[in-house]
Amino acid sequence: MSKPVVLIPGDGVGREVIPAAAEVLAALGLGLKFVEAQAGFEHFQRTGNALPDETLAEVEAAGVALFGATSSPSTIVPGYRSPILALRKAFDLYANLRPTFSLPGSFSRPDIDLLIVRENTEGLYAGRERREGDTAIAERVITVHGSERIARMAFVQARKRLQSQVTVVHKANVLKVTDGLFRETCLRVAVEYPDLAVNEMLVDAMAMHLVRDPEIFDVIVTTNLFGDILSDEASALMGGLGVAPSANLGERVAVFEPVHGSAPDIAGQGLANPIGAILSAAMLLEHIGQPEAATRVRAAVLETVRADVLTHDLGGSATTKDVTRAVIAYL
Ligand code: NAI
Ligand code: MG
Repeated sequence: MSKPVVLIPGDGVGREVIPAAAEVLAALGLGLKFVEAQAGFEHFQRTGNALPDETLAEVEAAGVALFGATSSPSTIVPGYRSPILALRKAFDLYANLRPTFSLPGSFSRPDIDLLIVRENTEGLYAGRERREGDTAIAERVITVHGSERIARMAFVQARKRLQSQVTVVHKANVLKVTDGLFRETCLRVAVEYPDLAVNEMLVDAMAMHLVRDPEIFDVIVTTNLFGDILSDEASALMGGLGVAPSANLGERVAVFEPVHGSAPDIAGQGLANPIGAILSAAMLLEHIGQPEAATRVRAAVLETVRADVLTHDLGGSATTKDVTRAVIAYL
């Protein structure tokens, strides 16, 4: 247990939920070490750099990080690029895993246990956008390499979760070349996993089914933008952005983060729900070979919810600290 966990709180509520998740990790008594690193819009405004080299070096050396959220303006700010996108690129964090499961509260849909496996490096987020006069163009990049490795990740995750079904989500009926390649590659990889069932669904139909009958899905694999949208949709089934965890996985580095952003509307008030960050920390524990500790953390979160210690986004009046304290008590 010699390598530390890098904590990157970032902006806004990231600075509230990452310390909360770190407190929970520390309370496990595993002897984990932590090192804090800088990133974000505020850091950019102070220093002109949103993701300092020291942060990249810390993440590279440690191999695992817990990331809060950073603020990104919707207009172009010269020199600024979202640090999480830059981290994904720097370490080729090609797989974004976003689990959605039922929580024991009336705000959560029952009987759901699904995992969205989102391609994290290409698609419409490949960063190839340009303006030609009155026309703006974004290139949608799909490669065999990118599709193969994300498909493999989906099948491996399905086996690990003891689930039997992988759904390939695409829009190949319209995007015949790009999503055609994604679909074809996923179905080819599926042949290597004869113990798992593979099926496919168009993304618009998937958006509907996620609302109507989410309990029928196990693992869903899809391209970058579709995965981004569907996983936010899926988080609503669980209880909203405040509770949804995620992992960004590459070959050497893994960055875990709550799905939510910096939530400027509630930042600094101690009201942010730390559960998304705490469940992301549980995913981190599994990744570093501490599955029992991960199970303990998840169980403590479920007990906290069952005891109605809920932040305002879940209809309660508990603070970030109240929830964190309750989770640690249930550990
Ligand atoms: P957001 O996720 O920050 O907030 C959306 C809504 O959910 C708000 O009403 C907020 O109060 C609520 N919410 C979010 N996290 C919560 C929590 N932990 N507890 C309780 N309520 C919570 O998304 P929004 O408003 O679209 O974006 C705000 C900023 O965050 C933008 O600058 C955006 O670029 C950035 N962002 C960053 C992400 C990242 O760093 N990975 C991801 C998404 C957005
Ligand atoms: Mg998103």
